[in-house]
Formats: sequence, structure tokens, C-alpha cells
Amino acid sequence: MFSFSVTGLCEDWRQELEQIKENEAEALIKAQKKEAVYQDSSGWIDTQEWADDAHLSRLEEIAETVRKEADAFVLIGVGGSNNAARSVIEALKSDGAPEIIYAGNTLSPHALNQMLESLKGKEFYIDCIAKNFETLEPGSSFRILRKALKEKYGDQAYRHIITTGTKGSAFEKLSMEQGYTFLEFPEDIGGRFTAMSNVGLLPMAVAGIDIRALVKGASDMEALVRKAGPSENPAYEYAAFRNLNYRHGHKIEMLSSFEPQLRYFYYWWTQLFAESEGKDGKGIFPVTGEFSEQLHSIGQYIQDGEDMMFETFVTAEVQKDSLVIEADDVFDGFDYLNGKDFFDINRAALEATMEAHAAKFPVGRISIDCLDAYHFGQLFYFFQFACYLSCSIMGVNPFDQPGVEAYKVRMFERLGK
Ligand code: PA5
Repeated sequence: MFSFSVTGLCEDWRQELEQIKENEAEALIKAQKKEAVYQDSSGWIDTQEWADDAHLSRLEEIAETVRKEADAFVLIGVGGSNNAARSVIEALKSDGAPEIIYAGNTLSPHALNQMLESLKGKEFYIDCIAKNFETLEPGSSFRILRKALKEKYGDQAYRHIITTGTKGSAFEKLSMEQGYTFLEFPEDIGGRFTAMSNVGLLPMAVAGIDIRALVKGASDMEALVRKAGPSENPAYEYAAFRNLNYRHGHKIEMLSSFEPQLRYFYYWWTQLFAESEGKDGKGIFPVTGEFSEQLHSIGQYIQDGEDMMFETFVTAEVQKDSLVIEADDVFDGFDYLNGKDFFDINRAALEATMEAHAAKFPVGRISIDCLDAYHFGQLFYFFQFACYLSCSIMGVNPFDQPGVEAYKVRMFERLGK
């Protein structure tokens, strides 16, 4: 199950939404066909291009070796090179898999020392993932982790090193020279769109995630959104909904849910939209709401603060977990909960929050069955395709990120690069 619906729209806005869908239909048609202008960034559009059976089998084979030999697996990568994998691993990890440790996403000596400390006494492998092997965070972490491996495994250290880089790059050359296991980072996919490739899938496979189910979810979503017309296409509806809000001054979108399991998925989603859409002086600023906790911090502002946001909820509709509150002989004022299941309590909080927020601004709802590998696959593809459409409607290139160079130039100058 997958659906996108909207509440809190007045009649005028509803009509305007229909108007946007009618006027911008060309953007949908172009994306469905793959636009020639984005040829060098659209490798993710055909899920099978980088996640067919041959790719998955190879990844499963490597993952099996790592799972057999390692207590820990270090994913070295930043931004699009780690967000997709981390979002699924942290949501779905189970016992029995190597511990997944993240590096290459910080320059803090405190955090890096902690990371090295956590590896002490453990058998471990590393996977350094970098499309452009000049990125400071992964490059510097790779150095210190190579040293740690050398100290532990001596001349066999290379066996514990996997690298994921582009074909023909200096990174590939170095990997070949050193005897590392080299995986291809698709040249025709930008980091934040790489969930269904070696970049996202190897770490997930090591963590015991069913990557075939994940890819199936993405493929099924691809089949839907690449075929459906403007009136029955959930990705297009969502993209139009975003642009409707933007045109009315709602320049912040909050992605919310009542499942803390989505915490790192929020990181992925935030990057996808911020880096793809925030350019040329335009773009919706993405923020996230981890409820019910944050209702007690930002909830006040959401309900009563400035009128500049709209919200999209992700909801899991099918009950998978149960925890019933039993009657208690201590009078604590919570007897109204006796016999109730947390599933229903959480749902009551969700429905109440959506209703309260929809009284103030438009609220979207993405409904899925549950948070499993299949539905994560659906969510990845849905948001990627919708992001592409949303950027096209807004008139920006979804696949570049020129703005991030500004700090890099200054930083490299300070570091004497
Ligand atoms: O989406 C993107 O392209 C970026 O966020 C990159 O993934 C990120 O900057 C890391 O780049 P690299 O893989 O080259 O180290």
C-alpha cells in the first residue's frame, strides 16, 4: 500500500492545485521519459540499471564474507554517500549482524577518537565511499582507518578494505594498486540519488537488510510513477502540492512522523530536497518533526508561530508491534489508558496532531503499510522522483549543488590545499 493525500486546503487552493497539475504536466512527461539534458545524472531512474540481479548477487557475496569475518563494519562516507544506507540500517537493524559504525561524516577529533575507540578489540572491515575522492571528511577518515587496519592486520589489511568510487578515477587506480575490493560508484548518479546502487546497498546488505525487497519496493514505485498520468500520480501530486505551498509563501516543509525509526531517513530526505532544490535564490527549506517528542518543543511554534510552513506526514498504517497498558493499583491519573495498545495511543496522537495542524496550514499524508525494506524502497524512489518533479516545476536543476563549493574553497585555502 502507498498513497499520498492532502487535507487542510480551502476550495481556492484546491482549484489552484489542479491548475498547477494541468499547467506543469510537461515536467512529468519529460521526467518519465528521462530528459536528455539530465542524461549524466539520471542513472537512478531505471532502478534496474544499477540494482539488477547481477549487482545484487555480487553485493550479497561480499556482504556474506564481511558478516562471517567481522564484528564491525565502518561505512566511510558523507552526504549522499552514507545517508541512504544509514537511514535503513538504523531503522531496521537486527541482532546478529556486524555493528555498523559511521565515519567520514565529521572532522571532530572527539567524535573520531570515539569511533576509533569503539573498534578496539573488534574484527572489522571498512568501505570508503566517495564519488569525488577529494571530499575532506571521507578522505581524512580513510587515512586514519587504514592506519588502524594496518596496525591490526599488518600486510593483510588490504583484505579488509572495500572502496566505492567511479570507474577511471584516481580512487579506482589507488584501489587496484593496493588490492582493495573495488565497487563502482555510478558516474551517472549524484550522491543523494544513489540508494539503489552499490553505494547504498552494500552497507545495507552487511547489516542484514533484505536488499532484494528494498529494490523491489523501488521498482514497483518506479513502475507506478513513471507511467501514471497527472491525475493519478502520487509523486506528481506531492510535487504540485509543494509548489502550491511555495507560491503562497509557505517556504518551509516539515516532514513529520510518529515513528522514531525514521530519524536517519529524515537526514536523507533533508539532504535530497535541500541540495536539489535550494538554488538560484529559490527552494523550500526542509525540516523534520520527530513526534510525539518534538510536539513538546517545536509544537508551540508550529501551531501558533508565523504562517510560513506546511507539513507532510509519513504514516505506517498496519499494526506490527503491540504493547498494552494494563490496569495498575497505584492511582496515577492514567486509568483512561487501561487496556489500550500503544499502537492506538500513538495513532490517536497522530490523528489529533494532523487535525490540529491542518487547521492552520495544508497537511500532506504519505501512507504506507509499515516500515520494512520494501516500503523504504518505495519511499526512496517516490521522494527522488517527486524531488525531480518539484525542482522542474520550480525551475531549478535538481542534480547539481554549486552552492556547497563556497565554503570548500575557503576551507581548502585555510588548510593549504
Ligand atoms: O548528493 C551529493 O552529490 C553530495 O551530497 C555528495 O554525496 C557528498 O558531497 C559526498 O560526496 P563524495 O561522495 O564525492 O564524497
